[in-house]
Amino acid sequence: MRSASLTAEAIAEALTTKRIGSQVCFYEEIGSTNNEAKRLAMEDCPDGTLVIANEQHGGRGRLSRSFLSPKGGGLWFTLVLRPDIAPTEASKCTLLAALAVAKAIRKTTGIDCGIKWPNDILVNGKKLVGILTEMSADMDGIRYIVCGIGINVNIRREEFAEDIRDIATSVEAEIGHPFDRLMLLDAVCGEMEKAYEQMLEEGFAPILAEWKEYSVTLGQAVRVIAPDETYEGVAVDLDEDGSLLVQTETEIKTVLAGDVSIRPRDN
Ligand code: BTN
Repeated sequence: MRSASLTAEAIAEALTTKRIGSQVCFYEEIGSTNNEAKRLAMEDCPDGTLVIANEQHGGRGRLSRSFLSPKGGGLWFTLVLRPDIAPTEASKCTLLAALAVAKAIRKTTGIDCGIKWPNDILVNGKKLVGILTEMSADMDGIRYIVCGIGINVNIRREEFAEDIRDIATSVEAEIGHPFDRLMLLDAVCGEMEKAYEQMLEEGFAPILAEWKEYSVTLGQAVRVIAPDETYEGVAVDLDEDGSLLVQTETEIKTVLAGDVSIRPRDN
């Protein structure tokens, strides 16, 4: 069954959360929900505001890449968060979002997805979800975090451009039929609300422990393209803030940001 259309009314009816989605801004089409979320955040929209579109013309990915967001093909949305944590801890929200999305996808669709550090969600090495977190902070702390989430839902394998068919996938491509986007959206918002409130009440440790259970990066040989150097090693653990620890031949390096690719094993 094709999923029901995304409309403001249908979203309001489907959501069972309180904090996440406390305010919903729906657009039939938009440039980028992250850009719109930042604009709304500057106008003091509440913690948990959900900005969602049926289509993005200018979807943005990490490292200044573009993100394909075709009409009706997925869930393209951004959450505005205002956690009372230090700006240096903002990356915790990225890991938290990846965990929430992966849990929701596994529970509702049965797809055995995992998380590639810090926040790509993969199925058999192909990308199902991308997450782009951006922050504004000043001397007093975080003003807002926008957490942009793009989930490929109802895109058929042949609809992916040939050059990304081997590296991208969708819920439909994995389970063989279209999936209800509203059900998935509510599940993601529900998991996000639980994880976000758990972090605010109990700290990050329980989230981090669960994130590791979903990791497809830990224990793997990786190549790290950091802002100032490229190196190879084995991803051995995360530190308490969620940075990746990579054992190279000579030392353990802490990866805060950068592009990490999992290297195929030598046979
Ligand atoms: C990545 O994989 O590089 C991150 C992709 C993030 C895409 C989402 S879709 C909703 C939100 N709006 C955007 O412009 N980007 C994020």
